[in-house]
Amino acid sequence: MKSRLTSLLTPLVFFATPVAALAAPEPPRTSTLMIDAATPVGRVSPMHYGLMTEEINYSYDGGLYAELVRNRAFRDNAEKPVHWSAVGAATLVLDAAAPLNSAILGSLRLEIPAAGGGVANAGYWGMPLTPSTSYRATVHAKAPAGFTGPLTVSLQSGDGATVYARARTPLLGDVWQAHEVVLKTERDITPTTDARLVISADQPGTVWLGFVSLFPPTWKDRPNGLRRDLMQMLVDTKPAFLRFPGGNYLEGLTIDQRFKWWETIGPVHERPGHEGTWGYRSSDGMGLMEFLIWCEDMGAEPVLGLYAGYSLRGEHIEPGPELEPFIQEALDEIEYVIGPITSKWGARRAADGHPEPFPLRYVEIGNEDFFDKSDTYDGRYTQFHNAIKARYPHLKIISSIGSDHPDKLVKSRRPDVLDVHNYSNAAEFIRISPTHFDSYDRSGPEIFVGEWAAHETPFKPWDKESRDEPATPNFMAALGDAAYMAAMERASDLVIMQCYAPLLANVNDNQWRPNLIGYDALRAYGSPSYHAFKLFSTHVGDEILKPVISAGSPLQASVTRDSRSGALYLKIVNPEASAQTLRVELQGVRRVARAGRAHTLAATPDATNSLAEPVNVVPVVTKLSKLAPTFTHQIAPHSITLLELKAR
Ligand code: AHR
Repeated sequence: MKSRLTSLLTPLVFFATPVAALAAPEPPRTSTLMIDAATPVGRVSPMHYGLMTEEINYSYDGGLYAELVRNRAFRDNAEKPVHWSAVGAATLVLDAAAPLNSAILGSLRLEIPAAGGGVANAGYWGMPLTPSTSYRATVHAKAPAGFTGPLTVSLQSGDGATVYARARTPLLGDVWQAHEVVLKTERDITPTTDARLVISADQPGTVWLGFVSLFPPTWKDRPNGLRRDLMQMLVDTKPAFLRFPGGNYLEGLTIDQRFKWWETIGPVHERPGHEGTWGYRSSDGMGLMEFLIWCEDMGAEPVLGLYAGYSLRGEHIEPGPELEPFIQEALDEIEYVIGPITSKWGARRAADGHPEPFPLRYVEIGNEDFFDKSDTYDGRYTQFHNAIKARYPHLKIISSIGSDHPDKLVKSRRPDVLDVHNYSNAAEFIRISPTHFDSYDRSGPEIFVGEWAAHETPFKPWDKESRDEPATPNFMAALGDAAYMAAMERASDLVIMQCYAPLLANVNDNQWRPNLIGYDALRAYGSPSYHAFKLFSTHVGDEILKPVISAGSPLQASVTRDSRSGALYLKIVNPEASAQTLRVELQGVRRVARAGRAHTLAATPDATNSLAEPVNVVPVVTKLSKLAPTFTHQIAPHSITLLELKAR
């Protein structure tokens, strides 16, 4: 799978500057940062910082989506019930003759020769159990007439020697029924991933299982909800938007494998799931409604990617009548998100539990359509643009081809926003950032940097070799990220939105690196890049001030101000090994509060965070005193610094 993808996912932007090239001559040890606070040069887009997401690296299944059972509908493999194992002498057979319903076209038949036999599931690289926790199991089961018993549902250690919790279903019937039980762990257990869910019978016989689900407590206790620790980390970044559902995951490898949003709504046991883009099948438990609720729970606006008639293996739909059904799919999807409850899909949204429309303002037509060798994007874009603007004139439309592909830009219409992607070597980000957005056309569409990340290894994110590297990057990458973020923030009147990608990675199997957040079934950590991103995204004003740094200084900076409170946020990146004495000169202010705060993220370039050492590289907050319009601050070697001041 990966090798096929490798040829498809050709680099967007890649500069192979080796990290060693960063070893510049000894830099000056003193720098000046001059800020004219009387003359803001632009307004920061309130949407500037957001998140991007798709099903990659087990981001949802085995990640944010809190479901603990892997292959819960027995559809992950057509030949065998992968991720399920027999308990006792039971035999397991996939049974296409006993479908659960019209979406789940099969089930698992258990032949149980003796009491105690059954089936076990060990989750996504382990099933995480914690003390005093209630787990909700749902088992869709049936048995032939004559099998009168219940099923025992239990949480056990991997070897079955310890039973952590146990419950019994009601008696089975000969038609499908969903049985729900709660399994509560004792308060004295040690958190573990060495556990499994076991379903067994206390009498011999045949039993069919159609769908088996197990949820721990979720964020805000939402049913079918999200993992709490990961959600906390995302909420902590205060994202203004969430770009979903991809990425390549939107497009699918083939047209048939595109994100068919209507198959991802409604009861989870009626969702067929689909073959994902990154080498594994998606349960679609994380469907359109879950994405929207996720946005709502983070206080973020959805930025909705619409499938636009191009898939990764090169299949495409010609503009014209053949594209019309796909345009209708998109219009229906928008109606599901924002239509009144009197509309067909608005009514469906209400029936799915959310009568209120969601606050959608931005939609994107496709993803990275510069890969489309048929060169039909201009025509396809135009058709989508016309149809969407006619029905929803308030929506802003994003072209998936940005100014990084000038020869392929849409010409027949003027998109509201262009999506630019940039995956670069950290050293390259540091090199280009001082002037990067200066040359962008300010009379053209606004810019959305819809995917970006610095990598620090010689491997491109999509290279096979990249998979042998840790899923998350080290501090060198964070320095590159911070330099690029400073550039985007300085231009944040034009760069109205930006989001790092990918966001999430299960460290047991990632198809891409670097990623912002790593985790296994039980633990999670933020990469140094996560901490850099959070530092930036949670300290941003509404006015852009121009930072003028003394000639020859290695420092890069961005300065914003909150016009209501007078808070000033000075972000300073030192990519080099020498400490700097920074003289800050604030002009155009009458008074500077004497107290402030410094947040310093400093480490050696190879320092990193991991499951074993989750907080090795995190910001340190110190108090600043005796501040005045001119003051000095020591900038650590290899560091990202945020100075918080107040001035009027
Ligand atoms: O972020 C990983 C992938 O990079 C996205 O799916 C795709 O849009 C880009 O090529």
